[in-house]
Amino acid sequence: MAEESRSQWGSSFGFIMALAGSAVGLGNLWKFPYMAGKNGGGIFLLVYIIFILIAGLPLVLGEMAIGRHTRLEPVSAFERLDKRFTFVGVLGVLSGVLIPCYYVVIGGWVLAYVFRFVTYITEAMPPDIAGSFTSFIANPWEPLLWQTLFLIGSAWIIYRGVEKGIEKFSKIMMPILFVLLLVMVVRSLTLPGVWEGVVFLFKPDLSALTLNGVMDAMGQMFWSLSLGMGIIITYGSYMRKKTNMLRGALIIPVLDTAAAVMAGLCILPAVFAFGIEPTQGTTLTFITLPQVFAQMPLGILFGILFFVLLFLAAITSNVSLMEVGVGYLIDRHKMHRRKAAIVISLFTLILSIPASLSMGIISGDAVLGFLRIGFLADVRLFNLNFFDFIDYIAQNIFMIVAGLFTSIFIGYYWGVENMLKEATNDGERPIRGVGVLRFLLRYVCPLVMVVVLLRALSIL
Ligand code: PFF
Repeated sequence: MAEESRSQWGSSFGFIMALAGSAVGLGNLWKFPYMAGKNGGGIFLLVYIIFILIAGLPLVLGEMAIGRHTRLEPVSAFERLDKRFTFVGVLGVLSGVLIPCYYVVIGGWVLAYVFRFVTYITEAMPPDIAGSFTSFIANPWEPLLWQTLFLIGSAWIIYRGVEKGIEKFSKIMMPILFVLLLVMVVRSLTLPGVWEGVVFLFKPDLSALTLNGVMDAMGQMFWSLSLGMGIIITYGSYMRKKTNMLRGALIIPVLDTAAAVMAGLCILPAVFAFGIEPTQGTTLTFITLPQVFAQMPLGILFGILFFVLLFLAAITSNVSLMEVGVGYLIDRHKMHRRKAAIVISLFTLILSIPASLSMGIISGDAVLGFLRIGFLADVRLFNLNFFDFIDYIAQNIFMIVAGLFTSIFIGYYWGVENMLKEATNDGERPIRGVGVLRFLLRYVCPLVMVVVLLRALSIL
């Protein structure tokens, strides 16, 4: 497509905010604090940062360079550079269309909780917070309604285009997200008895280091940076030639890690202060934290702020996921953006129904009598329900295999020199670190990816 007719970001700031919007998601806000809590706090953070430096950064830069160099969506980009690697792009696009099918389910729950907390201003919070959450997700209609609203919001942003939709929205919402996060951190750190939680998060205790913790850090780094999904390639393909790519590739991991650490600072000390154990993502967000808010002065207000924050993080990430499929249809099938946005949204809408119904709440019979499509809700693949199955194959197989072959492709075939030539605008800026990057992309990144993959396969 000619340079002028292809969508582009209006500014570097817009590009960075859009990519930060993709990276900062539920992974930072609910998964990171829980993983840090489970794996020794400070030592987990240290290992996580090391993985960002040795594997995350080179891959972010590599994907961005592939995108901008080819100015194409991931399948066509790999095909253009080396036909044998086309499958890497295909895996990325597959994850990009599958993950939103359950990401919108959680996005819907978050949206519902924003409104729930608003109603708690006038009504009392239910005493049984856990029961109220389980009965909410068990209800076949209510979550569907919220997830559809969440999906319509995402679709609208994508429908409006790269610059007028994604960029404009991210430029406004990401700064708001960071301000909200800061407010939450200040609230949390001014509670009595939080010091222990802060020390826990920042003081690396070597004796708490476990193999599981190290592998958790690798997987979390990859997911949190939105790697292996074709997103950075797609967003990179909208980047102008004059944008400073090296700066962008550095800022994204910094912002992403800052958001994760701030989330840890807002959640862990507060949870410890109230003597509650940090639990796994969903429970932490929808059960444990509401319990904390219930006990905190002005808790309802902070509950609203927290869920608005989560909503912004989730929608900007979901938009980026859906944009991979949309970009694919535009470049590959010459579809008009609006039509592509509608096609991807309808696909997501349809598959998100069984994902929601498969939360294990509705029995197969009831589903069948209820909605024909619901039969998928009761299908168990590798002993996982539909929701967990899409999550599993996309997050643990497709994305990781794509990451593995992206690093092999750059390290051994395309060449770190070509990557850096693109990243520095054909040498306009000094080219440095060729040897280090080559070593990382040839040996370290593939090793990290193989370990994550083997671990994922071993839990099947
Ligand atoms: N990085 C997002 C998070 O931390 O929740 C999740 C995500 C978004 C993963 C987009 C992959 C992706 F392509």
